[in-house]
Amino acid sequence: MKKYQTNSATETQKIAADLASCCKNGGIIALSGPLGSGKTTFTQGFAKTLGITQNLISPTFILIRSYPIPENNQGQLFHIDLYRLENKSQIETIGLSDILDNPYNITLIEWAERLDKLPENTIKINIAPKGENSREIEVIE
Ligand SMILES: Nc1ncnc2c1ncn2[C@@H]1O[C@H](COP(=O)(O)OP(=O)(O)OP(=O)(O)O)[C@@H](O)[C@H]1O
Ligand SMILES: [Mg+2]
Repeated sequence: MKKYQTNSATETQKIAADLASCCKNGGIIALSGPLGSGKTTFTQGFAKTLGITQNLISPTFILIRSYPIPENNQGQLFHIDLYRLENKSQIETIGLSDILDNPYNITLIEWAERLDKLPENTIKINIAPKGENSREIEVIE
């Protein structure tokens, strides 16, 4: 397990950008931490390393947004937010199992703890608020 301390959203994005080098060709990242801890902020930093320049908008109400990844035409980046997941059938409606089955996809899932199980190779990121602008980021691979 690796631990990082951050004192600003920008610093969190930088940590996320560094961690994204792990998964340039595909990966699954489960993000947990309370509301407003920085899961979306982390995802924005992560996406930048993959060459995604658009501003990521939180998929709060629609659960999922996808972005093409430059230099990876076999996969896409999926940003998923399960906070408003109403029932398990919605997981199939968004096609999650097909998304996770494609090894070229890069999938970041906020509130991933709402799922019963995730693939074994999922990297878990936990963000714990320590103060207004400070967070502890734990990475469990
Ligand atoms: N060190 C930090 N790391 C990340 N975000 C921080 C930090 N310090 C302050 N912030 C602020 O905290 C907020 C984090 O919001 P963000 O939407 O990323 O959280 P979230 O975990 O995705 O929340 P939600 O569960 O509602 O989706 C932002 O307003 C950000 O600017
Ligand atoms: Mg969010």
